[in-house]
Amino acid sequence: MQKRAELYRGKAKTVYSTDNPDLLVLEFRNDTSAGDGARIEQFDRKGMVNNKFNHFIMTRLQEAGIPTQMEALLSDNEALVKKLEMVPVECVIRNRAAGSLVKRLGVEEGMLLSPPLFDLFLKDDAKHDPMVNESYCETFGWVSKANLARMQELTYKANEVLSKLFDDAGLILVDFKLEFGLFNGEVTLGDEFSPDGARLWDKETMDKMDKDRFRQSLGGVVEAYEAVAHRLGVKLD
Ligand code: C5P
Repeated sequence: MQKRAELYRGKAKTVYSTDNPDLLVLEFRNDTSAGDGARIEQFDRKGMVNNKFNHFIMTRLQEAGIPTQMEALLSDNEALVKKLEMVPVECVIRNRAAGSLVKRLGVEEGMLLSPPLFDLFLKDDAKHDPMVNESYCETFGWVSKANLARMQELTYKANEVLSKLFDDAGLILVDFKLEFGLFNGEVTLGDEFSPDGARLWDKETMDKMDKDRFRQSLGGVVEAYEAVAHRLGVKLD
């Protein structure tokens, strides 16, 4: 496999084509953004930690029967993945209230949400990722009804698997975001799962160990990500 042209540069990752039309290289950079890219900082080791973290989680999800784009870890900062036709809608599950839900509804941070909430957001930084629902997806043609139902099913399944995984590591999976795409017509998990796109709290202290440390200027961003990786048994060095 040979890495070829840069196809797309996102806020934290760069995507490259390869000599195989079905495969891409994801490069995890040290950039960390908040406020839809309004604030960006670099943190040493963050790209490496998120790349290895993501590979570990995607492998667990694949083992649990969730189709993912992950093929292989290529280097500290790169992974080989299947090329998906991405759906421009983000799936969010919330097990506890935090972030935009607290802002929107004024409920108390940490409130248990049972059953967990499922939200959809349009992936569009310029519009600040507006919240949408199933009928918007159908009317605007972002994803078919059947594929959206499958995305929802897989997101709930991932929540089951990951809530248990993090709980066993002494962490609460508060909420997380997943992005899907199609590979040969099959709904497949893409993008990444890392502390950049999930909220993880220490079970004992309720300390935040995710990107909220950056959003809220709490410090120790990469140290928290590394601590989470260590507790899960992700090999970093
Ligand atoms: O901002 P909000 O509270 O709606 O985020 C819910 C979850 O989805 C959080 O874990 C957040 O990190 C993640 N998220 C994300 N990318 C976005 C929006 C939310 O990773 N564009």
